[in-house]
Amino acid sequence: MSRDQLVIFDTTLRDGEQSPGASMTKDEKVRIAKMLEKMRVDVIEAGFAIASQGDFEAVKAVANAVKDSRVCSLARAVPADIDRAAEALKGAEAPRIHTFIATSPIHMKYKLNMPPEQVLEQAIKAIQRARQYTDDVEFSLEDGSRSEFDFMCRITEAAIAAGARTINIPDTVGYGEPGEYGAMFGRLISAVPNSDKAIFSTHCHNDLGLGVANSLAAVMNGARQVECTINGLGERAGNAALEEIVMAVRTRKDIFPVETRIATEHIVATSRMVATITGFPVQPNKAIVGVNAFAHESGIHQDGVLKHRETYEIMRAEDVGWNANKIVLGKHSGRAAVKARFEELGIMFESPQQLADVFERFKALADKKHEIFDEDLHALVTQAHYPEIEEIYELVDLDVCSKTGTVPQAKVTLRVNQDTVTATADGSGPVDATYKAIEAIAKSRTDLLLYSVNAITQGTDSQGEVTVRLERRGQIVNGVGSDTDIVVASAQAYLHALNLLEYGNRRSHPQRGV
Ligand code: KIV
Ligand code: ZN
Repeated sequence: MSRDQLVIFDTTLRDGEQSPGASMTKDEKVRIAKMLEKMRVDVIEAGFAIASQGDFEAVKAVANAVKDSRVCSLARAVPADIDRAAEALKGAEAPRIHTFIATSPIHMKYKLNMPPEQVLEQAIKAIQRARQYTDDVEFSLEDGSRSEFDFMCRITEAAIAAGARTINIPDTVGYGEPGEYGAMFGRLISAVPNSDKAIFSTHCHNDLGLGVANSLAAVMNGARQVECTINGLGERAGNAALEEIVMAVRTRKDIFPVETRIATEHIVATSRMVATITGFPVQPNKAIVGVNAFAHESGIHQDGVLKHRETYEIMRAEDVGWNANKIVLGKHSGRAAVKARFEELGIMFESPQQLADVFERFKALADKKHEIFDEDLHALVTQAHYPEIEEIYELVDLDVCSKTGTVPQAKVTLRVNQDTVTATADGSGPVDATYKAIEAIAKSRTDLLLYSVNAITQGTDSQGEVTVRLERRGQIVNGVGSDTDIVVASAQAYLHALNLLEYGNRRSHPQRGV
């Protein structure tokens, strides 16, 4: 069977970041983008340049850092958005402007308050404007899966004639069903006279748990670009998961007439990096990247796998990067070895000082923990990069007393701006007491939406990775902290979240209308 190339368009840094609390800093975005580039992702959507100054800077930094993948910015179909996207992408080797407008009756009437003719006209003008900056223009029909077929045909034909090279039909609200959504691609591609001049793309949200199934149905019906995110991160129930799409087409070559360029052995490391940075842990039974994805627990399965691997395994764990972190560092590892391992993980240091800071943290961790794995290194870097945001609160000291039969107590000393402040509190457990003591100082008026602890690696000496989600006046942030002592990790995560709230990267949402 001859195979077409399936373009993998990763939108972890844009649509993924739209999930509440998943904001990433510029450096974090660059780290993830470098990893995506290493994984040979074709297009990296780095952000929505006009959303805020921070978003603009991040798109710009990714555009300058990435050379082997196309770098894209989202832009509504309005001149200011297109110009801002183009400005941010100036340094990119292969820039793409991705412009969109809603085309469903419900969105046009209630959100845009525009008749279809005006939507069409605005789309065409936006595409023409974007083409003045780059040949690589993508046009999305937002809420495409709920749009009227005849209007979709008209706007698609006009968009291609105006210069769009990629036409994306998103299932924005996750309403699609594979049979119906897939067939729509086949019909559209046949009905639009100039469809051979563009690549058709799918972009599915997962509200009904059908994001990957819908994307693959589109591929079976002619889509040759899939928009997806690492770990399925994204608004509400998320987007189609990159790792699932890539491994499905690779594992079922007998069904899918396409292949991707993805270096699958980097999938697990990328998944870990995204989870650590965003504070969205991966559930253990998640396909491909969950810790149980390749664990054969039952005796019958283990027996079968030992006799003949394919009895129960359809993919090899090592092909997606499990077991790739066998190289263990420890107390005696020198700076050069540590630096080399970071580089293998796609993490580069901008200055000798940054490496020195991380190496100091590495040594401190190696004193507490015998073996340091890749996951530990990712966590170290995430923490070492906190200074990129303004650190109002810093943990100086934590003294916790927790004894059976007594009320747990915590004494916390923080540096708040230049002052050193101490507070004590009781709690139902050591973490609760610690948080109450921090709040006695910070008085943050936040709501705690989520507190979760995960072991980063195996064994009881593992670092605990804590995620804390806080909300204040509609702004949601995720703080992360890691330490072999989970109470310390919890304190760090809470302070990280408070610092993020102070940093306040407020941005506008691309889909809130033009
Ligand atoms: O879900 C969606 O419709 C989007 C578009 C902006 C492409 O994310
Ligand atoms: Zn989306």
